[in-house]
Amino acid sequence: MASVELKSQKEIDQLRVACQMAADTLLRVGDLLRAGMTTDEIDRFVHEDTVRRGARPAPLNYHGFPKSVCTSINEVVCHGIPGPRRLADGDIVNVDVTTVAQGFHGDTSATFYIGKPSAKARHVTEVARKSLDLAIAEVREGARLGDIGAAIQGYAEGNGCSVVRAFVGHGIGRRFHEPPQVAHYGVRGAGLRLKAGMVFTIEPMINVGDYEVDVLDDGWTAVTRDGSLSAQFEHTIVVTRDGCEVLTARERPLALSEGL
Ligand code: MF3
Ligand code: CO
Ligand code: CO
Repeated sequence: MASVELKSQKEIDQLRVACQMAADTLLRVGDLLRAGMTTDEIDRFVHEDTVRRGARPAPLNYHGFPKSVCTSINEVVCHGIPGPRRLADGDIVNVDVTTVAQGFHGDTSATFYIGKPSAKARHVTEVARKSLDLAIAEVREGARLGDIGAAIQGYAEGNGCSVVRAFVGHGIGRRFHEPPQVAHYGVRGAGLRLKAGMVFTIEPMINVGDYEVDVLDDGWTAVTRDGSLSAQFEHTIVVTRDGCEVLTARERPLALSEGL
């Protein structure tokens, strides 16, 4: 992965603008979610909230994706397409917002609780949340991509869950997806050495059951092969000399998710 770009301070400042828009849109999604709401209503909200900021929703028409946001319910791992399905009491739903502002992308997602979650739903969601936090704590100049993967895999598997292999985090900038690929499993001390100015996402998808996924006939919706629940959180981060900055950090806790 020789082609990992190092962003300049100016580019990082531009990325932060896009990332903060995505983070704020995601916060507002949390305020809006209700049992009975359709995922198309989430899509419409994200589209309008993004455009209102003078930005553009990156998913729309990305390799033919038909909507402005991904909404992934229960056994859907990622890339769920909004539609007429209504959120139901007990569902978990990941909403993945990617905003393009002034040509730069900001990518962030969270899993929300609709009504009262089952013990399994709560477990997988909290394991996914914590595994992202542990991964972020690994990031600094000189650390390795394998340190990130190992932190996630060790925590998730240690708590009886599995880590999806088929989708990875990614470098991000003027392009939605660019090098490096950031696996959410791996070996400590292995892999690319991180440098200050690298910008990438970490977005672990954690399953209650096995890690295998299938993609439905719509060409997008990824589901767990065994039908088990799956949860995901995503941040966009920039590596610094002594750690990292979470460019998609939120200004307040998420409704229907954090601290429940
Ligand atoms: N936001 C997703 C990611 O985290 C990518 C979605 S691609 C789309 O990388 F086309 F489905 F929107
Ligand atoms: Co991403
Ligand atoms: Co995303």
